[in-house]
Amino acid sequence: MTSVRAPLTIPLLDLRAQYRSIKPEIDTAIQQVLDRGQFILGPEVEVLEREVAAYCGTRHAIGVASGTDALELALRACGIGPGDEVITTAYSFFATAEAIVAVGAIPVFVDIELATYNIDPDQVAAAVTPKTKALLPVHLYGHPYAVDALQAIAHRHGLKVIEDCAQAIGAEYQGRRAGAFGDAGALSFFPTKNLGGYGDGGMVVTNYQATADQVRLLRVHGSKEKYWHLMMGRNSRLDELQAAILRVKLRHLDAWNSARRANAERYRAAFAKSGALVETPKELPGYQHVYHQFCVRSTRRDEVKARLTSAGIGCQVYYPSTLPAQPALSALGLQGKAFAHADSAVKELLALPMFPELSLEQITRIAQLAAAS
Ligand SMILES: Cc1ncc(COP(=O)(O)O)c(C=O)c1O
Repeated sequence: MTSVRAPLTIPLLDLRAQYRSIKPEIDTAIQQVLDRGQFILGPEVEVLEREVAAYCGTRHAIGVASGTDALELALRACGIGPGDEVITTAYSFFATAEAIVAVGAIPVFVDIELATYNIDPDQVAAAVTPKTKALLPVHLYGHPYAVDALQAIAHRHGLKVIEDCAQAIGAEYQGRRAGAFGDAGALSFFPTKNLGGYGDGGMVVTNYQATADQVRLLRVHGSKEKYWHLMMGRNSRLDELQAAILRVKLRHLDAWNSARRANAERYRAAFAKSGALVETPKELPGYQHVYHQFCVRSTRRDEVKARLTSAGIGCQVYYPSTLPAQPALSALGLQGKAFAHADSAVKELLALPMFPELSLEQITRIAQLAAAS
């Protein structure tokens, strides 16, 4: 007999609550696609591309099969290839580094700033060599990286900037949205993302026609005309069901991001009241965080995690390893190298439940438990 695990009292993320809140809209959108009978690239994808471009404030958006593919195809479309060095953060999801290696380039990792857990611009400037061709910064957890400082470095050295926006759709710096700052941005529609489908999906956003044209070719086997292939590409198409679902959800995204921001404020107030030695995420002036994750920092992280887990509260270590320490990247020989801030983030950060439908009562309870000593 298969046993069914009891649900958590408060999950890290509750996608069923979100579906319940928009069920009629989603069901209608799915039914329309089924009735139309066109499933791969089609009218829903085309309209979604226009809507996401307008949302992010870019001229173009190209739907692809995942956020990982969006990064890889954006790098290729920006001309990054074998032997090129790409400077990126030591602290992110693996796909950030994987995409660089997939195009034959060399990831050059630098440490993060502890204020935001994003790449440290001073370290980026120090890591530039004659082989550097691009920067691949991540808007981690939904807080934009130091946009002006990185654009200045890129400008000074003639580098491309590919933004990893997987966790940051809707995040802003001085009124402009993630994806609109560099040469191209990569979005992920993985189900747990702030804008998530019901399967894999991703998108490249860019202001440059040539980059957009190139991604459009790459996602369909390098072909513009059927059965005529101009270059080696791949199959990385977004499907109509995902696009239809994402179009419904995009209409709610601003309200959901606002609810996440309000929940972050509630957490901060609850932790401040508790007087606990738990550091809550910061939002720097001029930036708008969209709290894909709400990660608290504590030197007693493992105790906090054990306490929450035994109370049935979902929490997760995001991330338990830096990128340079990953076994898959051992060929780079960086295993023993110290990245002081990223190494401490690995030991001290814990993601708490964060989703729009979280209630004040739940937040208060989580903060009380997390703060107890
Ligand atoms: C920072 C970051 N980059 C890239 C990705 C890859 O996105 P996907 O899972 O859609 O391939 C993710 C998502 O998991 C991510 O969090």
